[in-house]
Amino acid sequence: MQSTKSILIYDSQGTFPASFIKYFEDKEILVIVSKNLEISLESLKSGHFQLFYFILGDEQKQQLGQVVKEIVVHCPSCAKFMQLNMDISHNDWEALGADLKKAGIHQMYPENVNPHQVYQDFIGFKFGPTEVFKEREPEVSSSDIQPNRDYFPIKVKQYYADHYSKFDVFKKEESGRYLKILRAGEKFEQLELGREHDLKKELNLFIYKNDRLKFVSFCDQLAFKHFTKSKVDRKVKVAVMVDSLDAYLDTVFSEGLNEQSISMGKQICSRVFSLVQENPSYAILLKELEHMVVGAKRHSLVVTYLTAMISSGFEWYSTLSMETICLSSMFHDIGKVKLPKDLVAKKLILLSPSEREAYESHPRLSAEITCSHRSMNPTVSQIVLQHHEAVDGTGFPNHLTKNKILSMAQVVHLSDLLANLMVEKAISPLGAYKLLLADPLFITKFGRDVLMHFSDICAVSLDQIEKAG
Ligand SMILES: [Fe+2]
Ligand SMILES: [Fe+2]
Repeated sequence: MQSTKSILIYDSQGTFPASFIKYFEDKEILVIVSKNLEISLESLKSGHFQLFYFILGDEQKQQLGQVVKEIVVHCPSCAKFMQLNMDISHNDWEALGADLKKAGIHQMYPENVNPHQVYQDFIGFKFGPTEVFKEREPEVSSSDIQPNRDYFPIKVKQYYADHYSKFDVFKKEESGRYLKILRAGEKFEQLELGREHDLKKELNLFIYKNDRLKFVSFCDQLAFKHFTKSKVDRKVKVAVMVDSLDAYLDTVFSEGLNEQSISMGKQICSRVFSLVQENPSYAILLKELEHMVVGAKRHSLVVTYLTAMISSGFEWYSTLSMETICLSSMFHDIGKVKLPKDLVAKKLILLSPSEREAYESHPRLSAEITCSHRSMNPTVSQIVLQHHEAVDGTGFPNHLTKNKILSMAQVVHLSDLLANLMVEKAISPLGAYKLLLADPLFITKFGRDVLMHFSDICAVSLDQIEKAG
């Protein structure tokens, strides 16, 4: 075997999509598919495979326990990921997942699993099967206290409780030291928070900054379950989406983009889109947005949600265009990472002419970053480049006019203005809508179709909010 990583797939029905295999092969992972369980188990003895991915269908439902037992016995050292192509209710799924984890299966997926998710779990898989469910050590040792690492705050809420963490979790002590209170592979409900806390309360905890993408992947896995398998409360879905988007943006704005993070970004966009599509009531969406403005660490998060809301109803509104415009909203200002930090932090009116010129180059810098990645739709770079252009020619960097500016770029521009107004003036989203529509300078910056659409949204929102009382 030449490849450093190899996967053996057992798929008796041949249901495993070729695109899935290609996804792994593109990442230089060797994939072998077998239709015979006995031969698969024999092959595992060679020790060449790091992952055994097996797919069980309805016909194996009755012997599930027996098959799992056999696999665990024959495959003690590699990761065991299972895909169940069976009709299983959400509650049964959760209970089954817990049982199978106890039996030694590391991950469990439904039929329509995304290959990126499996890849994330695979590359993040760092514990051996015997360690995953090891007993917790009773006391915190001195090695669990970390004074000099970079940490990223996360909120652990009730919805994490019965899930296994993919990362170490820390609590900050009054002395400023970080105390490890949960190890990767342990359940969140094992968190030792002390008597004064429980998981129902919001509590700020920390992970290593380097684990942010693992956290994003974890949230995405939760979101996947929540969005596809059950009637989960909308607040939980929104919270999971905000958590993952916050951690995601923090990572890409500090470490830059790569193919892996772009692929994750696309996943997050699909969650944002489905959240907005799921509930077309502007009254509810605006309330959610209001919470995001208070809690969000990133301007881009608010711009992305606003864009998804405002886009609904345009003639170009589709799943594909929503991925494009949400990605553009996430990365519209990513070029600012190439500018001096003190310049970016300054208020616009305080910039000197040369600083202003540097600031006005940020759409171009953002587009340079996005267009350097093959997997990014080129329209994203166009939107990013145009997100400060105005139809009256007063925008930047190219002072474009009228129909030379994409309608989607105007929507991102509009969301950007609204997000800034909400923060600067500490007003509600609807307050920001009204303020913009009353501003004569604003009206000259956007095309007629965008303006009409936006004023319609404003009227419908007002109506819905009044009716909601
Ligand atoms: Fe910008
Ligand atoms: Fe912006």
